Amino acid sequence: MTTQIETANAVPYLDLVAQMRPLREEIDAAIAHTLDHCSFCLGPDVAQFEKDFARFCGAEHCVGFNSGTSALHVALLLLDLRPGDEVITTPCTFVATSWAISYVGAKPVYVDIDDATFNLNPNLVERAITPRTKAILPVHLYGHPANLDPLLKICQKHHLPLVEDAAQAHGAKYRGQMVGTFGAIAGFSFYPGKNLGAYGEGGALVTNNAAFAARARALREHGSTQRYYHDEVGYNYRMEGIQGAVLRIKLRHLATWTRERRRVAQRYHQLLEDTPLQLPREADYAQSAYHLYVVRHPRRDELKKHLEANQVGCALHYPLPLHLQKCYAFLGHKPGDFPVAEKAARECLSLPIYPELTEAQIQRVSEVIHDFFA
Ligand SMILES: Cc1ncc(COP(=O)(O)O)c(C=O)c1O
Repeated sequence: MTTQIETANAVPYLDLVAQMRPLREEIDAAIAHTLDHCSFCLGPDVAQFEKDFARFCGAEHCVGFNSGTSALHVALLLLDLRPGDEVITTPCTFVATSWAISYVGAKPVYVDIDDATFNLNPNLVERAITPRTKAILPVHLYGHPANLDPLLKICQKHHLPLVEDAAQAHGAKYRGQMVGTFGAIAGFSFYPGKNLGAYGEGGALVTNNAAFAARARALREHGSTQRYYHDEVGYNYRMEGIQGAVLRIKLRHLATWTRERRRVAQRYHQLLEDTPLQLPREADYAQSAYHLYVVRHPRRDELKKHLEANQVGCALHYPLPLHLQKCYAFLGHKPGDFPVAEKAARECLSLPIYPELTEAQIQRVSEVIHDFFA
């Protein structure tokens, strides 16, 4: 049975209500405005959000989508990928990174990750290139930028486009520049729990290439630029008007929220430094957006149980790397193929991190972790 004291000490893994509360009136009014104008699919709020988000990223074009998965799918369609083509990517990510590759009929070619950042290890990429390689798709996992300079160098040398999966990294910076602006195209997700989350599904494609942006707009709308005329096979991937209205309001707070996430990460660094946990560290080139704060330990499963028993929320990102998922069994991988990613999957544990997390909650998380190791 849960006592009152235990309940007061509970730290939820995620608290979207805390973020919504101060914005609620403004958001209610914005949604009411969308309803009054019946701008349900795309519409002026989405168009304005696209402009705002492009400016936020420092990119020329942003195209809103109904999900990050759709945005990444269209990103690969823009590169004219065909069945049999290969795309180099990481096995340590949410499965949607690989869906985009599969949806265009191409083959995900996994490359192991860097132990410190969980991101694609650039030193291993070049040996995975074959004549069929058509793109490199790094992920800025947990909000920490992938090491882009060496990846871009490889892309240049082999004439390959770089596509960034920035689904978890709104506002993260690589050498001072926003991620999402380094590759030919980037995909973002606005799934509710993301650093910039819609109140439903949402995503965006960001690019500096006007032709890509124009074709992406057509592809998300049944392959048409003029109603009922369809130049190529397209999709219904439109962003909803209500999501554009919500995201416009929330985007104004994103820089502050990122600062707050970094505050929480800093406090965890300080408070957990004396534990046996492997803590996430920013590489010297990185300013992480700390979508997640992922610690590592061989006794991860026991620690997870201990946190949960003490009402501290936690989660696993991700328990099984993509090369070992049933859906990709046809690729013929076996355990041991990507040992760094597999070890990360065994040891990772995501602690609560969100802008509204209080000092008392952070200290409670630390206390319960210290108690585990005592
Ligand atoms: C790394 C990564 N890529 C792609 C996606 C797909 O985004 P969505 O859920 O909006 O389709 C996600 C979101 O969960 C993600 O975390």
